[in-house]
Amino acid sequence: MSPTPADAQDLLREAQEIAQLGNTEFFVPDNGVNYWSPQVYRMLGIEPAERPSHARIFAGLHPEDRDRCLIAWSRAIRGTGRLELSYRFVRADGVIRHIEARYRLSRAEGGSLRAVGTLHDVTERKAAEDAARRAQARLSEVGRLATLGEIAAGISHELNQPLAAITNYARACERLLAAPHPDMPEVSSALREITAQAMRAGEIIHRLRGMVRHRETHRTVLAPNDLVRDVMSLLEMDARASRSTLRYDLAPDLPRVLVDGVQIEQVIVNLVHNAAEAFISTGETGGEIVIRTAIGESGQVEVSVADNGPGLAAGVEARVFEPFFTTKPEGTGLGLAISRSILEAHRSQLAYLPNAPHGARFAFTLPPAPELS
Ligand SMILES: Nc1ncnc2c1ncn2[C@@H]1O[C@H](COP(=O)(O)OP(=O)(O)OP(=O)(O)O)[C@@H](O)[C@H]1O
Ligand SMILES: [Mg+2]
Repeated sequence: MSPTPADAQDLLREAQEIAQLGNTEFFVPDNGVNYWSPQVYRMLGIEPAERPSHARIFAGLHPEDRDRCLIAWSRAIRGTGRLELSYRFVRADGVIRHIEARYRLSRAEGGSLRAVGTLHDVTERKAAEDAARRAQARLSEVGRLATLGEIAAGISHELNQPLAAITNYARACERLLAAPHPDMPEVSSALREITAQAMRAGEIIHRLRGMVRHRETHRTVLAPNDLVRDVMSLLEMDARASRSTLRYDLAPDLPRVLVDGVQIEQVIVNLVHNAAEAFISTGETGGEIVIRTAIGESGQVEVSVADNGPGLAAGVEARVFEPFFTTKPEGTGLGLAISRSILEAHRSQLAYLPNAPHGARFAFTLPPAPELS
């Protein structure tokens, strides 16, 4: 038996509830006959008596998402076609929901714009993705630590042998030369051994450096701002934990870069993490972390993370990039050392500059993608 229209309505309502998906129809200019399905009311926490209006949705947009949505809408309103938007909606009870909206735009009679669309509440999925990303970042950090630990063990083990041999031959030389008539052929043979062992030690260091540099890099051509956008949810967690504000100052139309995206994202995460921890250490609120992308004088892309926290103490400044240098009880002192070695592998450098009037600023450049002819 096929469902009656009333059954079909109920089924649709139930399906929308399960999928956390609502649908809407509205007109620009607002002609008073807009529609929200019950699920839209539920997900946005709007009283059922309230009249559906697009203005009401805008009023609830998260302040950081408002401008972007306004710009997308003002562009879309001029034409027809599709519009996809994702934004955070702040409900009257303060709860933030992540919404993915999709609209089909067409011209209604009289020339007004008709938008038919769906609103999908993806808050739970976003939270799961954040958790997965965080776990991933932790894992890669742990992976680096394990590798660094192995490298350190490898260095001491492999270097011990040539160093012990060098010490022995040097002692033998001293003994031989102390004799009234030194056996010069013996001395020069010992000196040759010292040279050979020192070269071997150099070779080991060279090989280990190569291991650190070329480990698992996947370079691709990427838009610099996407590197920041990819980790925004992680960065926001740091900002929340330190009760500071994140500000993005991302230059438009930047040239693309050839980088290992995951590694550069790791650098950005490390720098923001440090800034957040600096605020936590002072206990001050109202801090601000600015992530900036810009184009440098010679056309290269510059990325920087600046904070208005305590900054680096005079003695600390010279040592922050040293592996295992930390001023934190729980720190490993590897964040900046890893970041610097990642950037060196990209033929770049990580620089520290004090931020005026107080705070720290870390900056680096990214290698441009080769021009396609
Ligand atoms: N934005 C900042 N403001 C103030 N001090 C900072 C900042 N960034 C780094 N530092 C100082 O540099 C030190 C080294 O930083 P690094 O990231 O290498 O290690 P860490 O943060 O101590 O430990 P972890 O290995 O967990 O990152 C920090 O302990 C801190 O003293
Ligand atoms: Mg750190």
